[in-house]
Amino acid sequence: MQTTLESRSKTLVQLKETFPFLGAGLEYSKGPLKMFQRISIDYPDLGIVFFKLTNVPVCYVYNPDYIQHVLQQNHKNYIKPYQFKQLKIVLGNGLVTSEGSFWLKQRRLMQPAFHKQRLATFLDTMVGKTKLRLENWDKNIASNQSFDVFQEMMGLTLEIVSECLFGTNVSEQTEVVSKSLTYLIEELNNRVKGVAPFPMWVPTYKNLKIKKERTVLDKIVLDIIANRKKSTERYDDLLGMITEMQDADTGEKMSDQQLRDEVMTLFIAGHETTANAITWALYLLSQNKEVENKFHQELKTVLDGRMPTLEDLQKLTYTMQIVHETLRLYPSAWMMGRKSINDDEIGGYHVPAGTNILMSQYVIQRNPQFWESGDAFNPDNFIAEKEKARHKFVYFPFGGGPRFCIGNNFSLMELQIMLAVMGQHYKFSHDHSHKVALDPQITLRPLGGMKMKLEKR
Ligand code: HEM
Repeated sequence: MQTTLESRSKTLVQLKETFPFLGAGLEYSKGPLKMFQRISIDYPDLGIVFFKLTNVPVCYVYNPDYIQHVLQQNHKNYIKPYQFKQLKIVLGNGLVTSEGSFWLKQRRLMQPAFHKQRLATFLDTMVGKTKLRLENWDKNIASNQSFDVFQEMMGLTLEIVSECLFGTNVSEQTEVVSKSLTYLIEELNNRVKGVAPFPMWVPTYKNLKIKKERTVLDKIVLDIIANRKKSTERYDDLLGMITEMQDADTGEKMSDQQLRDEVMTLFIAGHETTANAITWALYLLSQNKEVENKFHQELKTVLDGRMPTLEDLQKLTYTMQIVHETLRLYPSAWMMGRKSINDDEIGGYHVPAGTNILMSQYVIQRNPQFWESGDAFNPDNFIAEKEKARHKFVYFPFGGGPRFCIGNNFSLMELQIMLAVMGQHYKFSHDHSHKVALDPQITLRPLGGMKMKLEKR
């Protein structure tokens, strides 16, 4: 007798705490992070549970082997879920939102621009932009006033990614770019969370404003692309690199529209993620004197007041451990999603085609099953022996498999540099009148920003 995949597999366990029609929608809408944490506690050994969000079938997957299966081993069976359609409104068909053979072609074209040797050329921009920002902060010291470090970091990381993308071409327009991008990111957050946002063709006030801000950005980006194409000069920035890249088989270069989509993607994927991480790192350091002292000691030994060079980055190992420990406790990408194309079996459980898969870095990376004192800030979690001994998918802040973050080395280098430059100049303390809480939007933000005070070192 022939057995079907389904009859051989275990049946998925369905969450008990669900309601007719709404499914688990009520609990999910109150806060997916809390819900995922509760599932890990209530069903510690399952690693996968099934529920419905209204009528949408969802599996929450929290066993590292099963996550590896989805992101890596059987990645061909999974695409990005419905919410990514919302991101397309601004990102178009760039690396984050494209699929299949088109995505693969683009990824191969762009990968060399993110090679470590290429990234080394951005060191001066990262150091220079960070130093410049610090000079403005001295006034906060004089007035002993706390200020929102998160907003400052959003500004700084946008300046860095803009200059790495376009050289100095966009510096006069940074304010306009920043205003439009900030608006678009807020609205994308709202649309991704919203149950059924109005389609873009409906002329609501918000839809029209989204289109207006998108046009502002498009004009700036397309003008730069057009000027580049006319110029005979060679440019060493990211745009210069990706404009030059040719398809190995056809010799084709990217069209202007495709360049626009990739640039917009790098703009958006490449600044808020890093801004969150550096903000959380400064907060964590302010809460742990022992780690902070060890960090300052390393800066003194390696740099002794100098600005970091490429060789120094190799030696700032504890600083890099702080970066990783921050991304463990406060992963900017706190949740990832996929949707199954065909039926699959995950850990022996039958998962039907069309099921949405959710995975949460935030929850796994603190789970006491995999981490000793999972909530504590301990950069020694990232000494080499411990790293080697761990399952690859109990720490995956940059995702995994073929769609692993293309900007991971870029952002690790940027975070290490920003921390080293800031740590040499200032000691940060948290302003206790401001309560720290999580704001899990598309990225994991600090709710209401992060108020801190500075002291010169
Ligand atoms: C702390 C900083 C960052 C974090 C935590 C982060 C996290 C991630 C994650 C989790 C993914 C995978 C998403 C998925 O598979 O669904 C991703 C993809 C991506 N990231 Fe990052 N990212 C960071 C910084 C950056 C930077 C600086 C850039 C560019 C300059 C960048 C560009 C991208 C792109 C283009 C993709 C799509 C890659 C593909 O699908 O081929 N990211 N990122």
